[in-house]
Amino acid sequence: MHNGTTLILGIETSCDETAAAVVRRDDEGNGEILSNIVLSQLKEHAPYGGVVPEIAARAHLNHLDRLIAQAMAEAGLTYRELDGVAATAGPGLLGGVIVGLTMAKAIALAADKPLIAVNHLEGHALTARLLEKVDFPYLLLLISGGHTQFQIVEGVGRYHRLGTTIDDALGEAFDKVAKLLGLGYPGGPQVERLARHGDPQRFALPRPLKGRKDCNFSFSGLKTAVRELVHQLGTLSDQDVADVAASFEAAVADTMADRLTMAVHLFRAAHPSVKTPALIVAGGVAANQKLKAVFETAAALHGLTLIVPPAKLCTDNAAMIAWAGAERLALGLTDDLSVAARARWPLDQAQAPAYGSGKLGAKA
Ligand code: KG4
Ligand code: ZN
Repeated sequence: MHNGTTLILGIETSCDETAAAVVRRDDEGNGEILSNIVLSQLKEHAPYGGVVPEIAARAHLNHLDRLIAQAMAEAGLTYRELDGVAATAGPGLLGGVIVGLTMAKAIALAADKPLIAVNHLEGHALTARLLEKVDFPYLLLLISGGHTQFQIVEGVGRYHRLGTTIDDALGEAFDKVAKLLGLGYPGGPQVERLARHGDPQRFALPRPLKGRKDCNFSFSGLKTAVRELVHQLGTLSDQDVADVAASFEAAVADTMADRLTMAVHLFRAAHPSVKTPALIVAGGVAANQKLKAVFETAAALHGLTLIVPPAKLCTDNAAMIAWAGAERLALGLTDDLSVAARARWPLDQAQAPAYGSGKLGAKA
């Protein structure tokens, strides 16, 4: 601790990004990123059309020590000058999480610093507070390749899940539709690019769960509808591909507007005294411009302050893990070196998985 300032090294290895970062937090809660290094494994996984766990774990192992050294050098710090070491301890691909968490334990032990085992989702949830003053409680929409959920963020370590996906994550749906259309991985950016030249009204696709009084998501029926449509069309012209992409994106945007309205109602019922709650959107899909327009419209309509952190901090990174570590350390929330990596770890521990466990539980 240096004049009320904490310096935290963060490590992220839960999916296909190997990342290390150093952040500073002052005693008023202001954050600053001193370094933020992300190595994407896209090329390693691209031939398989998705992330291969064994390849991911091996790649983390091959690159992590170099990335950490680079993050420390850019921050101009030695391990002794740190106040803590934070690493993602789950949820994620277990092999990768073990690599990062074990590395963090070794550094914490060698440098005699506290270890902070961070829930990856808490990293996403608290990122906005690294960038600006955002008071609790706020509404979080997390839309990535692995997660699709609404949370009320009530405080550090205090979450209330309002809704989640009962099958596929939204980013996963974009990726699967891209695959059906013969586009590469990750599919979201390509679907968005092609959709710009397409007719969003040419094909009527389902709006899953629209009008339901909860704010859960479902995307597998929509994906199946796209598969059947592609099958019916047979050989796809460039215009067909663009029209399917645009129609899919329109269905997602429509669904999102509906689910968002429900989430705001639930938030307002839980916190009636919060006049202008913040809506934070995080995860890779937050980069989608069509959806961003939906969030802007909803924010204006419902009186929310919309915050979409820059793409670099919305997608997986270690600055968010270091920051969550700093926020936890400030509250004295540190972990024992015996803490275990977890494939599943819901933010809202009190809540059972929405629709049973198994495959759905991990995404819930
Ligand atoms: O948060 P992220 O980088 O990684 C995790 O899943 O944790 O999110 C990646 C996901 C992928 O499924 C990708 O297709 C999707 O975000 N994505 C997009 C866009 N950019 C990335 N989906 C729709 N539109 C985009 N522009
Ligand atoms: Zn993530």
